[in-house]
Amino acid sequence: MLDKLLYIETFGCQMNVNDSERIVTMLADLGYAATNDPASSDMILLNTCSVRGGAEEKVYRRLANLRIYKRDGKKQIIAVGGCVAQQEGEELLRKLPYLDLVIGTHNLHLLPEMVRGAERGERRSETTFIDNDQRLDLFPSIKGESRLSRFVTVMQGCDNFCSYCIVPFVRGREISRRSADILSEIRQLVDEGVREVILLGQNVNSYGLKSEHEPSFPELLHQVAAIDGINRVRFTTSHPKDMSDELIACFADVPKLSGQIHLPAQSGSDAVLKLMGRGYTRDSYLAKVRKLKALRPDIVFTGDIIVGFPGETEADFEQTLSLMEEVRYIDLFSFVYSPRPGTKAAELVDDLSRTVKMARLDRLMELQRRHTREISQTYIGSVMSVLVEGEGKLPGQVSGKADIGRIVNFTGDTSLIGSFVDVKIAKAYPNSLLGEL
Ligand code: SAH
Ligand code: SF4
Ligand code: F3S
Repeated sequence: MLDKLLYIETFGCQMNVNDSERIVTMLADLGYAATNDPASSDMILLNTCSVRGGAEEKVYRRLANLRIYKRDGKKQIIAVGGCVAQQEGEELLRKLPYLDLVIGTHNLHLLPEMVRGAERGERRSETTFIDNDQRLDLFPSIKGESRLSRFVTVMQGCDNFCSYCIVPFVRGREISRRSADILSEIRQLVDEGVREVILLGQNVNSYGLKSEHEPSFPELLHQVAAIDGINRVRFTTSHPKDMSDELIACFADVPKLSGQIHLPAQSGSDAVLKLMGRGYTRDSYLAKVRKLKALRPDIVFTGDIIVGFPGETEADFEQTLSLMEEVRYIDLFSFVYSPRPGTKAAELVDDLSRTVKMARLDRLMELQRRHTREISQTYIGSVMSVLVEGEGKLPGQVSGKADIGRIVNFTGDTSLIGSFVDVKIAKAYPNSLLGEL
């Protein structure tokens, strides 16, 4: 019987979103139903991200705010999970006397007993890395509402240790899931109505490299695409250094593979890329982009850029802008560098002023807005295959995603939901396209 209420807030990347889904499923067995209302909940869990600075403070602030709900003398279990939990561990329990549970990224399997303990008033922190089959975070929850497009985790963790990044410290070493499990999960998803899967990992390109028995990522892509009922396959994220010719070839050989790729460059300057420990140069990155464009002329790129990395000169920054001009991303996630505890870059002298960093970010975003606008305009008049996923923003409209990952809204009946339809693009907005069936 579901006689208790669980309120979860999820920050950060899809890994956390998957973990939250799994937590909801696990705690249902203990009688907790998910709620959107923290005030009436019996348990509050923040699933946190620590990829950029201020993450810990944000958690403290949010918990302080949520605690106003702990009223009527009613006992509410307060828990912190995810990457800040992994990073801070027991320290969080010491700092926050009202906190009951701290659960690290590899310890989800302990959550039920931790919650039972907390119901009896026990406080506990578990953040040990476990690299064996006990780890539940490897296996995304596949219960829940049936959706048309689902993320499927293929690997977790990261071995790259880019000098600025905390992910390897809070998610642990790279570990690939067995391909047999991935494929059977996808078949099950097809039975539930899923038509598109997004293969997920911190660096999917190195999938299977540590195991003789598993296929390479390009081989896995072929196997996934061969599953009847799956109409479209995407993946995220790929590290440019591991973008092999074999994987590039998939963009020509696997028709179900989406024509959009997220390929974070981080910087366009060789000097900065070297300090970041990214393992590729500007030229080798651009060579891969050119190969992809040659094989799939309509391919679109998205990416991540960090501005204001320690020592980034004006000339380095200009290199980043010129890289953007060459690639022409349809969308770009841009971040001001933020030092993370324990990372190599945190030891570098960071003497750029905040004003300079923000001014660079502004210039970069301005350029990106222009590129997004110009690329989107070229779609007007073209016909795109759209997987209709739900109702649109306006009455009478439905909405879905095109092969290139853009949202497309058009006038149409909700009976179209779940099917692929051809839509002629009439108008381009910064974040979506408007079309006609
Ligand atoms: N595994 C993915 C992304 C991980 S984090 C990859 O390698 O591409 C997502 C993005 O956050 C990164 O691509 C990077 O652009 C940004 N990021 C990571 N650490 C950062 C830091 N310390 N400061 C600013 N941005 C950071
Ligand atoms: Fe972080 Fe680099 Fe790993 Fe991405 S590849 S998660 S940026 S260390
Ligand atoms: Fe954030 Fe952890 Fe993901 S740090 S980006 S939630 S792996």
